[in-house]
Amino acid sequence: MEAEAAAAEPPQQKSQSEQQNDARIAIIELANMISVPMSLHAVVVLKIPDAIWQSGSNTPISASRILSLLPCSASASASNLQRLLRLLSSHGVFLEHLLDGERRYSLTDVGKTLVTDQDGLSYGAYVLQHHQDALVRSWPLVHEAVLDPTVAPFVKANGISAYSYYGERSEMNELMQKSMTGVSVPFMRAMMDGYVKGFDGVDRLVDVGGSSGACLKMIMERYPHVREGINFDLPEVVAKAPNIPGVTHVGGDMFKSIPSGDAIFMKWILTTWTDDECKVIMKNSYDALPEKGRLIACDPVLPEETDSSHRTRALLAGDIFVMTIYRAQGKHRTEEEFRQLGLSVGFTGFRAIYLDHFYTVLEFQK
Ligand SMILES: C[S@@+](CC[C@H](N)C(=O)[O-])C[C@H]1O[C@@H](n2cnc3c(N)ncnc32)[C@H](O)[C@@H]1O
Repeated sequence: MEAEAAAAEPPQQKSQSEQQNDARIAIIELANMISVPMSLHAVVVLKIPDAIWQSGSNTPISASRILSLLPCSASASASNLQRLLRLLSSHGVFLEHLLDGERRYSLTDVGKTLVTDQDGLSYGAYVLQHHQDALVRSWPLVHEAVLDPTVAPFVKANGISAYSYYGERSEMNELMQKSMTGVSVPFMRAMMDGYVKGFDGVDRLVDVGGSSGACLKMIMERYPHVREGINFDLPEVVAKAPNIPGVTHVGGDMFKSIPSGDAIFMKWILTTWTDDECKVIMKNSYDALPEKGRLIACDPVLPEETDSSHRTRALLAGDIFVMTIYRAQGKHRTEEEFRQLGLSVGFTGFRAIYLDHFYTVLEFQK
């Protein structure tokens, strides 16, 4: 009886002072948010996920035990490491276990994405790539993207565009390639499992902005009928790309022309550019395709609705990253915005295929 009466009661309204208290703590959390990515960066630099993973055992271990597995001096601070681990446990990267009065940590599924695999890859390089000094210098200038959208905050902070800056520093180019590959490989597996007919009839495939050629390699291994791969990227990028059987690395500028192919693939390209620039890239792709040829673009696609899900937040945060680092008017787009871009350069067909929470496959038919 009592339970029924309780269930019938309307939900208790919070008092105004409780609501204000909630608001004050929420704004303090937001104001301190920078502690989260910088702590994440710190644990990747220190290789903490690999140390905890210990070849797959993932046994909960204490901060001092983690330090004993790392090549650091005896004066390294276990208590400071524990502070990082506590914060990141609260954000779902580690799982905290209280055992015999001691805090120990294992990796959650999120934390496992930072463990280096047999190919030397993980999402760790993506974390490092985002927090290099030149990128970090751009962040206090985000408001400038509102006041003057003609110049990206990165350019204001560093004097040149991000890609030119990376181009002058081989270590940044290498980290960019490693970061792109680390994020690409899991998506590409999901894409090829779900987009099974996407490469039907394709003999020669061009990957525009293909970086190391890792995506092409995976496509050609899965679909041996794709016999010829053209990895097209900036000259300084393809100069660092590894040899891949069947793949020719071609240096060039997609704003000038794109090598011809039966289909054109591009992943994480359109996002970085303004609508006008996307139209140039897409028109050059259109011109490089035969009748009925397909442009297959993989990009984040923004939901129409704004909500607080991980997916929406990851996509909206990535949108601000693009605005800050690459182009103040480069952006994540909605499905409809992509459709309109395709139509504007002459593509007649369009479909969006959702196989992954971050990237969507966008197929434009000539
Ligand atoms: C965000 S990365 C994506 C890399 C790769 N497609 C992936 O998803 O892993 C963008 C790529 O575009 C390349 N890029 C930038 N400007 C370019 C241009 N004008 N012509 C050709 N490639 C360009 C960059 O060098 C970089 O490899």
